[in-house]
Amino acid sequence: MLEVEKIHTYYGMSHILFGVSLNVSKGEIVCLLGRNGAGKSTTMRSIMGLTPPRQGKISYKGNNIAGKKPYQLAKLGIGYVPDDRRVFADLTVKDNLKISERKINGKNSWNIETVFEFFPALKKIDFRKAGFLSGGEQQMLTIARALMTNPELLLLDEPTEGLAPMIIKILEKQIGSLRDKGFTVLLAEQNLTVSLNLSNRGYIIDNGVIRYHGSVEDLKDNEEIRRKYLLV
Ligand SMILES: Nc1ncnc2c1ncn2[C@@H]1O[C@H](COP(=O)(O)OP(=O)(O)O)[C@@H](O)[C@H]1O
Ligand SMILES: [Mg+2]
Repeated sequence: MLEVEKIHTYYGMSHILFGVSLNVSKGEIVCLLGRNGAGKSTTMRSIMGLTPPRQGKISYKGNNIAGKKPYQLAKLGIGYVPDDRRVFADLTVKDNLKISERKINGKNSWNIETVFEFFPALKKIDFRKAGFLSGGEQQMLTIARALMTNPELLLLDEPTEGLAPMIIKILEKQIGSLRDKGFTVLLAEQNLTVSLNLSNRGYIIDNGVIRYHGSVEDLKDNEEIRRKYLLV
C-alpha cells in the first residue's frame, strides 16, 4: 500500500534522512522505532508531503505521491496524526471533529457517533474547548480527528509519548482494535513494549538510516540491537 524507496530529506542544509526505505502492506501495523532525534517524525513528514524528500520515491497504492501536497494526500486517504497533537484550541471537542469529517462516496463509517464510541472519554467532554484538554485527551482528539477523514492508511507519530500509563493502555487497546478491523497503520514509536503489543513487523531508524528490519519478536530477543539503537 505504501512504499518508500531510498528517500533523502533535508531541513535547509541539514541532511536528515539517508536513503530510507520501508513498506507497509494493506492491513498491517508496521512500527518505525528509534530514539529521540533518529528521524521518525521526519520520515512521517516526508511521506505526508510536509517536508518532501529531495531524492527517492514514495508510492501509495501504486501511484507516485512524491511532491504532492498534504491536503492532496489527505484526499487520497492518508490520515496523519502529528507528534505535536495540534488541535484547534478555541474550538470545542465536537467542532474539532466535525470540521475534519470527510465522506468517501457518500459513506462515512467514521463519524461523530462512531468516534465517540471509539473514545467514550471524548464524548463526556464534547463541549469543552480543546485548548483545555489534558495531554491524553488531546491525543485521543487528534486520533479521532484523523479517523473522521476515513483514512485508508494512518500515520501515527508517537501517540504514547509523555502520557500516563493508564492513557497509554487505552490508546494501545484502541489502536489494537483498529488492527483487528484490518486498518493499515505506520506507527512511529520509541517504546518497544507498545510496538510489540501492536505490530509484528518493524524498522529501526538511527541517525536517519534504517538499521534493522524484521519482526518485533526478534527485536525483543536481540539485546545487542536494542541496546545499540533503542535504549537511551
Ligand atoms: N525543523 C527542523 N529544522 C532543523 N532540524 C530539524 C527540524 N526538525 C527536526 N530536526 C532534526 O532532524 C533530526 C531528526 O528529527 P526527528 O525526525 O524529529 O526525530 P524523531 O522523530 O525520531 O525524534 C534531529 O536531529 C532533529 O534535530
Ligand atoms: Mg518525533
